[in-house]
Amino acid sequence: MRSILFVCLGNICRSPLAEGYARHRIEALGLDWRVDSAGTGSWHIGKAPCERSITIAHKYGIDISAQRARQITSADAERFDLILALDRNNLTDLHAMGITQAKLLGTYGFEGADVPDPYYFKGNDGFEEVFEMIHTAVDTLIEAHR
Ligand code: 4NP
Repeated sequence: MRSILFVCLGNICRSPLAEGYARHRIEALGLDWRVDSAGTGSWHIGKAPCERSITIAHKYGIDISAQRARQITSADAERFDLILALDRNNLTDLHAMGITQAKLLGTYGFEGADVPDPYYFKGNDGFEEVFEMIHTAVDTLIEAHR
């Protein structure tokens, strides 16, 4: 069984969407894979995903509202065989923790591009693009490893 962990900064906007979409797709394909997400930061531990992520996921038939933010720990390195950072700052933080197998989600289909940090977005602007990028990268990732 494969295990995948998606990591962003807050674990409230981008990585919950990646977790939710990946779980949805993995179930649809009948694969027996484990999926989770975490943040490098501690600010939002225990919080639900941001409203804008809940809304865009819901639009595509995925409910991420029950997810709760947690912070990455070095023990996650042994618990997951694929650890995907949403942007290169997240990747740098993971590598600094010694999580050397971490790589960019954008490696899958986007030549290593970052999934942009929605913290600086105004309103709902950009969430459609974030979802589109995550969904294409996760599809590419699943096809590469199934
Ligand atoms: P995420 O977005 O990393 O996609 O969950 C952010 C959420 C909160 C903050 C930064 C990014 N923050 O600085 O509080």
